Amino acid sequence: MHPPRFYNSLAPFYNILRDYPYTPIRRNLTAAMNLTSGSTVFDLCCGTGMNFPYLAHHISDNGKIIAIDGSPAMLKRARKCAGKLKAQQPNLIFDFIELDLTSYAAIDTLTTIISQHQPTHFICTLGFTCLPNSQSLLKLIYDQAQPQSTFALFDVHTPKKNFSARLINLIGACDAALDPASHLASLNSHPTNRSAITTDYPFKMPPFRKIAIKSITLTK
Ligand SMILES: C[S@@+](CC[C@H](N)C(=O)[O-])C[C@H]1O[C@@H](n2cnc3c(N)ncnc32)[C@H](O)[C@@H]1O
Repeated sequence: MHPPRFYNSLAPFYNILRDYPYTPIRRNLTAAMNLTSGSTVFDLCCGTGMNFPYLAHHISDNGKIIAIDGSPAMLKRARKCAGKLKAQQPNLIFDFIELDLTSYAAIDTLTTIISQHQPTHFICTLGFTCLPNSQSLLKLIYDQAQPQSTFALFDVHTPKKNFSARLINLIGACDAALDPASHLASLNSHPTNRSAITTDYPFKMPPFRKIAIKSITLTK
């Protein structure tokens, strides 16, 4: 099934595990993004808005989150999450964009919204492995971004097509053999810029032991 349609069905259950086991990774990743009060962040494949509380904490009241996803049901929950945060930080700005990132329209739309909003920070968590065009998309976003922009992502990864991989691919409608973190690192040829890929940990649960979670933060 096409991932955004798959996630329409998954949306009501997505938050049930309360983000286990990703919470510490999100905290560390967003802390490493050099976000400041008033930053504009693109959250690609934002899902139900799991990154929003961490981003909101760093960008304070006057920051902006541009949240992009292809699944209307996931976006509906992301809006709810944003509503709760805005009750505490009323000047925080959210902009929601429903966009299938594998569609023909994606490139033009992304180019337009990047030039419109001039984001300085990009985050994508557990999203790029859902996109068969993740490499060309990452390059497009990296090339369009302003100098000094910061990129952060984490995703599941296994190079092998073993049982764990098949299971995680099925559950996440993704391809864990894709390695967006390494691809992003390869786009950054500037030797002085930060570029750190970390393998955060393998899942501890038995069927997923062969899966690692790779994360990266990098400044253009
Ligand atoms: C595993 S969820 C991750 C959600 C969120 N970033 C998180 O960390 O919890 C993957 C998300 O990617 C979105 N997605 C998958 N394929 C997509 C596509 N072609 N275009 C846009 N969004 C897509 C899904 O709708 C889903 O919300």
